[in-house]
Amino acid sequence: MGLFNKHSEIIREASLFRRNCAQVFDLLGYRSFAFIYDSPQDSAAIMRSLTNKRILLGVTGGIAAYKSAELTRMLVKAGAEVRVAMTPSAIEFITPLTMQALSGQRVHLDLLDADAEAGMGHIELARWADLIVVAPATADFIARMTHGQADDLLTTVVLASTAPIAIAPAMNQAMWADDITQNNLEALQNRSINVWGPASGKQACGDVGPGRMIEPQEIADRCIGVFNTTRLTGLKILITGGPTQEAIDPVRFISNYSSGKMAFALAAEAAEAGAQVTLVSGPVHLTTPDRVSRIDVKSAEQMLDAVMDHVAGTDIFIGVAAVADYRPVAPEEQKIKKTKNTMTLPLVKNPDIISRVATLSSAPVVIGFAAETENIEANAKEKLQSKGLDLVFANLAAETFNSNDASVIALSRQSQQTLGPGSKRSIARLMLDLIAEHFEKKTIPTEA
Ligand SMILES: Cc1cc2nc3c(=O)[nH]c(=O)nc-3n(C[C@H](O)[C@H](O)[C@H](O)COP(=O)(O)O)c2cc1C
Repeated sequence: MGLFNKHSEIIREASLFRRNCAQVFDLLGYRSFAFIYDSPQDSAAIMRSLTNKRILLGVTGGIAAYKSAELTRMLVKAGAEVRVAMTPSAIEFITPLTMQALSGQRVHLDLLDADAEAGMGHIELARWADLIVVAPATADFIARMTHGQADDLLTTVVLASTAPIAIAPAMNQAMWADDITQNNLEALQNRSINVWGPASGKQACGDVGPGRMIEPQEIADRCIGVFNTTRLTGLKILITGGPTQEAIDPVRFISNYSSGKMAFALAAEAAEAGAQVTLVSGPVHLTTPDRVSRIDVKSAEQMLDAVMDHVAGTDIFIGVAAVADYRPVAPEEQKIKKTKNTMTLPLVKNPDIISRVATLSSAPVVIGFAAETENIEANAKEKLQSKGLDLVFANLAAETFNSNDASVIALSRQSQQTLGPGSKRSIARLMLDLIAEHFEKKTIPTEA
C-alpha cells in the first residue's frame, strides 16, 4: 500500500473518531473544545499533513465563531502555520486572546493599524497566505465579499489575495435561504471561491434547517485536500550540506571546494514537497530556501553535534555535506608564524557523521553521497555496504563541486541507475522520488 493511501486511511479513521468525540463534547457545551481528547490515531502522518502550509483563518461575527478555536488547534496540529484575522464583530463572540494562544501568533484585527502596516500589513498578509479560510462566514461578510468591499482587514486581505479562498457559511436557515444570500454565493462560486457547507440541523436560534457551519474537522480535512499531497508530505527530513572548516589556527583552516548547492537544492525541493526540513550547513554563500530550518556550523564536530541534537524523530537523513575526513589534532591558539622552512601538521580522523546516524537504535532511512575522483561505482558500493546506507548518490567531485548541474549514479542494494545530467534542482527532484520509494519500501509493510 502506498504511503499516501496509508495517510488517507489513517486520516479517515481519525476523522471518524474525532466526529464521535465532537458529538459528545457538543453535548457538554462549546467550552469543552479545549479538552478534546487527542486520539491515538493522531499519528505523525496526520499531524504533519499541512506541514509548511500557511493558512490565514478569517473569523467573522457569528455564533459558530467559537468553533474557529478548535479549527485553529486542528490546523496547527496538522503542521500548518496559522494566522488569524478577525472582524470587529467576531471579537464579540470569541476573544482574540484565545485565537492568539491557539495559533501562537498575534491576531490581526485592524486595517488601519500602524504597527501591523510596519510589519505584516494587509498586502503582506494577503501575499503570505497559501490558503485563506473564512470560518464562520456570516451573511454580512459574504455580501461584502461578493461586492468587493474592502472596509475591514479581512475583506481587504481577501480582495488583495491571489491564494485559494474558502468560506464556511454559518447563519440562520432563513438568512441562508434568502435569494440575496444565494445570489451572492453563486457569484462567489463563479469566481472560484470554495463554499464549504453549510450543514443542516438544529440551530442556536431554535430553527431547524441548513445554515450550521460544517464541523472544524471537516474544514481541516478540506484544507488538506486543497493542497497536493506528495509522498514526502509531513516527513521529517534532516540534511547536511556544504563543506566543513577545520581550524589550524585562528585565521586558517582545512576545507574543500563543496558549495552546498546540491544540499540546498534538495532542501528546497523537499520543503516544496511538504516535508519538514532541517538543513545543517557548513560555511556556504547560499540563501536559505523558503520554509527550511537552517543550522549553521563550521567544523565536523559541530556538524555532528547539530545532527545528533536534531535527529530524533527524523524519517530520512541525507548526508550531502563534504565533511573533512581529518582535522588538526590541536589548533594553535595564536596565528602560526612563517619561521620554519617546512612544517608538519598532525591530523586526527573526524567523526563519521553518516555512520553514527545509520547505527542509531532508531535510525532513520539514511542516504549518502560519494564525491569521487576515480572508480565512482566501486567506491560508492563500498560506502553503501560499509556504512549501512539505504541509498548512495555518487558522482565525480571535480564535475559537481560548485557546479549548478549534476549527473549522479544512484546505488542501492537492489538497483543502480543514472540520474541526469540536469540542473541540481531537477536532479534533486529525481533523487527525492527515489528516496521516497526507499522510505516506503523500508517503513510500510507490503500487504500479503
Ligand atoms: C447573537 C448574535 C448572533 C449572530 N449570529 C450570526 C450568524 O450565525 N450568522 C450570521 O450571518 N450573522 C450572525 N449575526 C449577525 C452578525 O453578527 C452581523 O451581521 C455582523 O454585522 C457581522 O459582521 P462581520 O461579518 O463583519 O463579522 C449574529 C448577531 C448576533 C447579535
